[in-house]
Amino acid sequence: MTLVGQALNVSCFASYVSILRDEVPSLINSTKHKKISSRAQQVRPFYVMDLLARAKQLEAEGQPVLHLEVGEPDFPTPKPVIDAGIKALSQEKTHYTAAPGLPELRRAIAGHYQRKFNIQVDPGRIIVTPGASGALQLALSLLVDSGDNVLLTDPGYPCNRNMVRLLGADITAVPVDATTQFQMHANHINEYWNERSVAAMIASPSNPTGTRISDSDLNSLIEAVNKVNGSLVVDEIYQGLVYADTDSTALAKSDELFVINSFSKYFGMTGWRLGWLVVPEVFIDAADRIAQNIFLSAPTVSQHAALAAFTAETEAVLQSRVEEFNQRRQYLLPALREMGFDIPVEPEGAFYIYADCSAITKDSFQWCKQVLEDIAVAITPGIDFGEHRASTHVRFAYTRPVDQLEQACDRIANYIK
Ligand SMILES: Cc1ncc(COP(=O)(O)O)c(C=O)c1O
Repeated sequence: MTLVGQALNVSCFASYVSILRDEVPSLINSTKHKKISSRAQQVRPFYVMDLLARAKQLEAEGQPVLHLEVGEPDFPTPKPVIDAGIKALSQEKTHYTAAPGLPELRRAIAGHYQRKFNIQVDPGRIIVTPGASGALQLALSLLVDSGDNVLLTDPGYPCNRNMVRLLGADITAVPVDATTQFQMHANHINEYWNERSVAAMIASPSNPTGTRISDSDLNSLIEAVNKVNGSLVVDEIYQGLVYADTDSTALAKSDELFVINSFSKYFGMTGWRLGWLVVPEVFIDAADRIAQNIFLSAPTVSQHAALAAFTAETEAVLQSRVEEFNQRRQYLLPALREMGFDIPVEPEGAFYIYADCSAITKDSFQWCKQVLEDIAVAITPGIDFGEHRASTHVRFAYTRPVDQLEQACDRIANYIK
């Protein structure tokens, strides 16, 4: 008998004896005496979760809440991808894949870079991960030791600082604003890099601002990080969701970067939990070993489904969605400005607008709570993305159709009056 079998048998026997004794079997509950790691205790919740819980409550009471807080596309996964997933399931493709992913998917991702950006990326450098979240964990595990320091933008994607802290490292929050398109700049490296810093992380287009780093600023940032012998992690999860200029990838600039991407946003596959990380060549072996240990492999069915994400048929569906997102953006941007929100940099990507609400409130967290209670519109307060001018900013997500955005803006405009 296996050890697990023995353990199951012992526990069955114990509960049998307690029933014989006519006792109610009770669970051993000593959790409250156990230590919760200080790293776990430091992880902050999303404030928007409180708002979401309240929004759900209001909806259950029959209030039609308008959601401008949701950070995922409202569109379903494109049909060819769903069909490929169903086919994989019916063919029982349900075992682990190799840790870095299905070779054909890694080649398909390399082909995507070739077609879209005319650059060659060795599929060996591409590790398929459980979402961009898995890619971020993998990249940070490759780069960060406890006691190290990582530079992040403030405002920025909130999970990054928690992931860094879970590795026993700390962060330097680099305050960014309109003067640098809310992106990290080479000057920030000169100002904030310290003797413990090992990496800097950016996202372009960014969450929460939707702004992108310009080509020339990216060149100087890469140079500045190289100069201090650091690594640059570029999160391109919103690649494809770009409405102005042409789309780009940092991989065209250097082979020495860590580039994160995902099937979640542009490809509309949030729940399939699939992303990828491109590593510099010297990190391939370590990335494989860490992937084997932290997630064994990304979800197999999702990987087979994702093979259909790069076909012409899927691409046509996705491009029409980009059009739709752009129409929403073109509605929401002037509507918010008209109400008194200041949006100093035109957001060119993702599906977010990060707006300065200081003309309306100096306490965006309380205001978001009040707006939800009074007019049933859910918006994310700046505090979820950092501390720099957080109380005078809010994030609007245009992940709902234009008619719902119109209704939300009508409610907000009347409310402000
Ligand atoms: C900038 C950024 N990176 C990473 C993620 C994680 O995405 P996923 O794990 O679904 O690919 C998100 C999700 O919102 C994000 O906004």
